Amino acid sequence: MSLSVMLVAGARPNFMKIAPIWDAIQPRDDVEAVLVHTGQHYDPNMSDVFFKELGLPQPDEFLGVGSGTHAEQTARVMLAFEPVLAKYKPHVVVVVGDVNSTVACALVAVKLGIRVAHVEAGLRSWDRTMPEEINRIATDAISDYLFTSSRDADANLLREGIPASRIFFVGNVMVDTLLTHRDRAVERSDVLERLGLSERGYAVMTLHRPSNVDTEDALQRMVYIILQTQCRLPVVLPLHPRTRTRLGQRVSDLVDAGVVLTDPLGYLDFLRLMCSARVVLTDSGGIQEETTVLGVPCLTLRENTERPVTLTQGTNFLVGTQPELVLSTLDEVLSEGVRRQYTVPEGWDGKAAHRIVDTLVNLCA
Ligand code: UD1
Repeated sequence: MSLSVMLVAGARPNFMKIAPIWDAIQPRDDVEAVLVHTGQHYDPNMSDVFFKELGLPQPDEFLGVGSGTHAEQTARVMLAFEPVLAKYKPHVVVVVGDVNSTVACALVAVKLGIRVAHVEAGLRSWDRTMPEEINRIATDAISDYLFTSSRDADANLLREGIPASRIFFVGNVMVDTLLTHRDRAVERSDVLERLGLSERGYAVMTLHRPSNVDTEDALQRMVYIILQTQCRLPVVLPLHPRTRTRLGQRVSDLVDAGVVLTDPLGYLDFLRLMCSARVVLTDSGGIQEETTVLGVPCLTLRENTERPVTLTQGTNFLVGTQPELVLSTLDEVLSEGVRRQYTVPEGWDGKAAHRIVDTLVNLCA
């Protein structure tokens, strides 16, 4: 009998983590996969474009949960997911990352006695005001198999009392996707031409963390940083819906200053933008990893990171959210005063998904 694996994706950063696992399963006759999309993200440019570009099929089940408060969204995923598990009865449910859908589906599965595998387990920012940190801690505590992408994650899990026999260092699935699509992005995407940008002549920014955009103080600081960066080199800022809403009228101030504002971009366009950027400024988790693999300097606009390997080995600088330090580091990077030798972390080699599927077959078949 083949192993039946249910893969769960819900929000934008999940899709690139699920895609390589889906791909690694397809050629095998000892594993079958069912794909569930919770619908946490639902706009075409936050969801459908990733399915199309990453070659994912239509999900077998779309739960359509949409937006809401944390409790509403998490509860809706749980309610909608339970009958899906009853229908398919998979041997194992695979959840990825740290979004609300991750913890919700893990909790439902484990209570039905279905094994749960968490991909990207063990990351910790040590900041419990981040909703993602709570999702990470809770998901790891109840999962049966913890697949980690860096050695520090293994150490975090061991410190929390998780037995070593449940922890599997497999590397980084997001890097699998990046390496699969990098050449195609450079060949096919015309985003530089469309936006009037030149090779290494611009900064890419992304902002969506509640801590940076949900309060007036924080948002004002971010607007100041965007405008000051734009004084140094052209800025491209694809706007997350949360950020667009919070910016309101200020969108036109940014446009007047020359900032290139776009809707959220698809995977290939955004990868193309990162590949040729002089510098990236972001509060995203995944972008810290992607810039490390691409060798592009990244300034992380947060006080902490759950991905310390990108600081110690990669191209990432944790600069906080105070404009002075952000801009002085930016100036150093732009003047190439900061030359950083970087290495790609262990297991960020394009084969993480294969290691996950092999491990699942060994454990569960
Ligand atoms: C979620 C994740 C975050 C991840 C981010 C990537 C949680 C707790 N947060 O945050 O970890 O980094 O996704 O984008 O799971 N909206 C739309 N269209 C969509 C989706 C959302 O317009 O397709 C708007 C809605 O107004 C919604 C808001 O964006 O209220 C925020 O969406 P939500 O899913 O609650 O959280 P994100 O900020 O996207």
